[in-house]
Amino acid sequence: MTTTNQQIEAAWTYHDGTKHSYQSVRSGRHVLDFANQPLPFKIYTDLAPIPLPKEAPPIPLPALEAIAAPPAASAREAVVDLPALATLLYLSAGITKVRRHGGWEIRYRAASCTGALYHIDLYLVCGDLPGLPAGVYHFGVHDFALRRLRAGDYRGLLVQATGAEPALAMAPAAIVCTSTFWRNAWKYQARAYRHCFWDAGTILANLLAAAAGMGMPSRVVLGFADAPVNALLDLDTDREVSLAIVPLGWGDAVSPTGVPEIEPLRLETRPLSGFETDYPAIRAMHAASSLDSGAEATSWRGAGPSGDPAAGTGRSVSLAQVPAEALPADSVNEVILRRGSSRQFARMPLSLAQLSTLLQRGTRGIPADFLAPGATLNTLYLIVHAVDDLPPGTYVYHRTAHRLELLRQGSFRDQAGFLGLEQDLPADASVNVYCLADLHGVLRRFGNRGYRAAQLEGGILGGTLYLGAYAQRLGATGLTFYDDEVTTFFSPHAAGKSVMFLTAVGHPARRRS
Ligand SMILES: Cc1cc2nc3c(=O)[nH]c(=O)nc-3n(C[C@H](O)[C@H](O)[C@H](O)COP(=O)(O)O)c2cc1C
Repeated sequence: MTTTNQQIEAAWTYHDGTKHSYQSVRSGRHVLDFANQPLPFKIYTDLAPIPLPKEAPPIPLPALEAIAAPPAASAREAVVDLPALATLLYLSAGITKVRRHGGWEIRYRAASCTGALYHIDLYLVCGDLPGLPAGVYHFGVHDFALRRLRAGDYRGLLVQATGAEPALAMAPAAIVCTSTFWRNAWKYQARAYRHCFWDAGTILANLLAAAAGMGMPSRVVLGFADAPVNALLDLDTDREVSLAIVPLGWGDAVSPTGVPEIEPLRLETRPLSGFETDYPAIRAMHAASSLDSGAEATSWRGAGPSGDPAAGTGRSVSLAQVPAEALPADSVNEVILRRGSSRQFARMPLSLAQLSTLLQRGTRGIPADFLAPGATLNTLYLIVHAVDDLPPGTYVYHRTAHRLELLRQGSFRDQAGFLGLEQDLPADASVNVYCLADLHGVLRRFGNRGYRAAQLEGGILGGTLYLGAYAQRLGATGLTFYDDEVTTFFSPHAAGKSVMFLTAVGHPARRRS
């Protein structure tokens, strides 16, 4: 019998229906209704805040080390307690700067987000921890506080929903990422479903780096039965859904039984805007990629098709690995607090060592239930404008061999600007790093949920490249793109692949003051 998840025409319908093209951008009639702009926070009005400690200890490990080397899954050294959680939540989704733009105040966060619309929320499901009793909590970004939705140990529900995912079955705590569609769809309409995974991905890149910096095991779990997890968080699933679960730490085995009954809570939250518009394509794609049971989750997880390309015949450049002692040692804290998307790039070159470090450190450290260790589903395609000792042109990255295969030599600044939705940033950057996935292979292996996996991995890779750039005192920005034009541009090598994420890296021309 074919499950809903295996009916993969749903993923193609969504993906093809939300592509950007030169034509679609010009024919779009969507106007931003600023009077109805949604609140970028979920605020429970009737739950008491539990303030998080602000003086939590910083993470001294160099960011370039943390992004490349997750701790062993069963490392027990790091204690999951309230100060540790405060640090993790702050460095993944906390407010790191406040800026005024005209009459608007924007509270920028630790991780980048499409349109600064901040539609991702984090929930915590934990057993009894030092400083925090067992429960289900929401992380209130606006006042840096937790709010308890349910008292008691509900981790067994996550273990059941994932069919006993091994890291969750031993984790003292887990973070669940959700998206409230409207908070992003207000601007991006149905394409917001892609943004769920991009914007959760940049948050998870920070979370994984911060956890690794603390020596705390963490892992991205995408295979879970959706309905029980959404019920646990009491989500109104027409508007908000769970995207990914991240177990934290390694302790005693979690019992999958004896979970308290899940009653609906009907908690009040502050309205987001005057009215909300529904985008059925988002709900349809989410339903089509949902899993029904823990058993389905068990058979779903495991390694996917490798995005590392087959050995090429073209000219290629071997990248030297820069020894750790020669790398900048800026800590995880420093790098995350320094990060902020570059708004303009100076047309200056990167050194080959910087590019090598970015690619090497930025693409290996994602522990996830859909990846073999050290692997990725996505293939990295580069447009190199200015890197010392590397001819400008297009390249594909061979991850295991740490080698760049030249596809086409030439200066492609104008084309890069066009492909990145006719913006200056991709034209002025030193390099554009595109993540492309063979969606045919990914969907064959994982069903529609493979779409979530490929997009989320693109977001995590993009977020990690941000950190790898800022750790080297460079700048970066995520960018959107013309889907099919990008594939054509990198073809024939990229023929059949789909773009998941674009990161431009370079030297910032000026800092945001
Ligand atoms: C997936 C993604 C796509 C983005 N696309 C663009 C873009 O096309 N143009 C742009 O100027 N900024 C883009 N950004 C940058 C966001 O506008 C920026 O992250 C947001 O305003 C928050 O600011 P910050 O990253 O400095 O914290 C993108 C960011 C992400 C994560």
